[in-house]
Amino acid sequence: MSKMTKRVALVTGSSSGLGLAIVRSLCKRLGDDGIVYLTARNEGRGLEAVDVLKKEGLGPKFHILDVNDQDSIETLRDDIAAQDGGLDILVNNAGIIFNDDTPKAIQAEKTIQTNYFAVRNVTNALLPIIRDGGRVVHIGSLVAPMTFYKMSNEMQQRFRSVNTEQGLNDLMQEFVDSIKSGEPVQKGFADWSYGTSKLGVTTLTRIQGEALRKDSSKKDVLINSCCPGFLKTSFTSHFDEETVKQMISPDQGADTPVYLALLSPGTKDLQGQFLFRREIKDFYNNDIRPVSYV
Ligand SMILES: NC(=O)c1ccc[n+]([C@@H]2O[C@H](COP(=O)([O-])OP(=O)(O)OC[C@H]3O[C@@H](n4cnc5c(N)ncnc54)[C@H](OP(=O)(O)O)[C@@H]3O)[C@@H](O)[C@H]2O)c1
Repeated sequence: MSKMTKRVALVTGSSSGLGLAIVRSLCKRLGDDGIVYLTARNEGRGLEAVDVLKKEGLGPKFHILDVNDQDSIETLRDDIAAQDGGLDILVNNAGIIFNDDTPKAIQAEKTIQTNYFAVRNVTNALLPIIRDGGRVVHIGSLVAPMTFYKMSNEMQQRFRSVNTEQGLNDLMQEFVDSIKSGEPVQKGFADWSYGTSKLGVTTLTRIQGEALRKDSSKKDVLINSCCPGFLKTSFTSHFDEETVKQMISPDQGADTPVYLALLSPGTKDLQGQFLFRREIKDFYNNDIRPVSYV
């Protein structure tokens, strides 16, 4: 990379919560050497968030992005390729959770789409413009191991051994179908759409990391996922006061995602891994129970 080239970073779903905190931290860390894109599906909320950071003396750029809309993803990719010549850091942060009585079949469909399939779609669309030394971070969660331990031994083995994106896509669709037919547990899954979506993200990270190891066209590009911790955001606003006291702020939660986004050139041991508090948690092969955020 020439000395003149600024590092270009992009965070999905970053008008609030953890995403906004990651943009803030990346703006501070990269300073004048970086361009940081705050992206959101809602332009008004996105521009408001940019204003918040501008008042703090930071200067993120804004681009609209609905991670569930392929045209929106490809427009973003083309605009960044044209304006900035490529991308160096991608943080897949956008996500949803249902804390209400929405029918389970709808929860499953929407949650797996946004939290799993969209992460795959955004990554696959943007990988071609990710430059050597690039870092991709998927925001996972400790609910992934919690979900893993609720599944049958046979299903655990399927998640442990699946080694193609297509195989994993099929497994995630099989989960949605099992919720629709009312038999997730009989089929070996956990009856938990959000947890299964994040298990999908962690498993996708492993598969993408293995593919990158073998891809000689990509030099020093690393993909990892992490749990940011138990955060005070809209995701957790329904918890009682005592539980809220155990949570950390989105800015504190940004620590491990930003650590992964800025891994030094030539880092070898972090590829396809899942981290919590900057430590690898290989729950597929090591029992990490009891799983606790605090
Ligand atoms: N809070 C926690 O304790 C916790 C723990 C572990 C992991 N996480 C993960 O952290 C990430 C951020 O969540 P958060 O807690 O910060 O909650 P949040 O403030 O609600 O952030 C979620 C963001 O995702 C965006 N989003 C949802 N669907 C989108 C779409 N189709 N396209 C683009 N953006 C979309 C939301 O935008 P809108 O405003 O438009 O809805 C929102 O900005 C999620 O992946 C979550 O699973 C959170």
